[in-house]
Amino acid sequence: MTTTPITPTGLLPTLPGPAYTDPATFLREQERIFEARWFCAVRAGDLLTPGSFRTVTVGRENVLITRGRDGALRAFLNVCRHRGARLCTEEAGQVRRTFRCPYHAWTYAPDGRLVAAPNLKDLPGLDRSAHGLIGVALREWLGYAWVCLADEPPSFEETVIGSVSARLGDDRAVERYRPADLVLGRRVTYDVRANWKLIVENFMECYHCATIHPELVQVLPEFAQGWAAQAAVGHGAAFAQDVEGFTVDGSGGFGRLPGLADEQDRRYFATTIRPQVFVNLVPDHVILHRMFPLAPDRTRVECDWLYAADVIDGGADVSASVELFHRVNEQDFAACERTQPAMHSRAYAAGGVLVPTEHHITEFHHWVTSLLA
Ligand code: FES
Ligand SMILES: [Fe+2]
Repeated sequence: MTTTPITPTGLLPTLPGPAYTDPATFLREQERIFEARWFCAVRAGDLLTPGSFRTVTVGRENVLITRGRDGALRAFLNVCRHRGARLCTEEAGQVRRTFRCPYHAWTYAPDGRLVAAPNLKDLPGLDRSAHGLIGVALREWLGYAWVCLADEPPSFEETVIGSVSARLGDDRAVERYRPADLVLGRRVTYDVRANWKLIVENFMECYHCATIHPELVQVLPEFAQGWAAQAAVGHGAAFAQDVEGFTVDGSGGFGRLPGLADEQDRRYFATTIRPQVFVNLVPDHVILHRMFPLAPDRTRVECDWLYAADVIDGGADVSASVELFHRVNEQDFAACERTQPAMHSRAYAAGGVLVPTEHHITEFHHWVTSLLA
């Protein structure tokens, strides 16, 4: 794997404070980013049986994702075609055969067809096929259902898979971990009182690692230097010689996942899939964060710890493994929450600065501003 050195060139500007607080900016981000790009919505393994469903917030919309009798996952706007009531009011669940609107009981099949509307059998002009749920584009990758609200979604290969290849230097770097075959060992949901961009920026840099992540730096000593794994293409941070695994106490993990290349062993790789996914790769598990931006100053983060099926099915205790990155998450989100209130300050009206170990964040800023322009 190649490592691209970064030349220190002084300080670069951040975005100005209002970019993290302004409701109009957040609205534009919802329109042009979250409702226009591919958005990682749910873990496919959470919807195993026909009729199982989840609802998620994507930009300003609520999206219903469900598995049909044919086994396929489909996504729809979670809006009844009659008078617009939210069709599914739960975050997750299971229907036996159909989705029934709680308002006037219009009923839809898991493939979106309108199958019944009370007392309207003979109503002239009710063309049921024209009143099915509005479909949303869906792709499965890494074991997740990704949705896109755009009428013409951008290329998934270029914008999602391509961005991972560009960061990790190899389009198979993630797929070798076979995230789709892994099993959910733990999920923690964090309600973070911070703008989604602060969370992305924080994830991309490691200048803060020595200050706030003592446990992580024990396992990945090079992080104490402040260079993030994401600062250089294809770079993975090496484990400390005296640690056995990626665990909170350095104890052994669960053995190397099959299919990994030798150079992926005893290393931590990370990538951001813009706009709302972080992937962390270690030899025995994968940690994947999905962000759901809810307001300029509020972001829900769902973090999944994924392990080989035999680890979970065998009842292994994953707590030391989960605890390491759970602490990292809490440390990171606390830092973001400490930063968010100051985004309103006149001291930050023109923004702050990025030191050389943070310079790659500029590319993220350019990406955001070009989409909002
Ligand atoms: S709004 Fe759904 S049936 Fe009337
Ligand atoms: Fe961090």
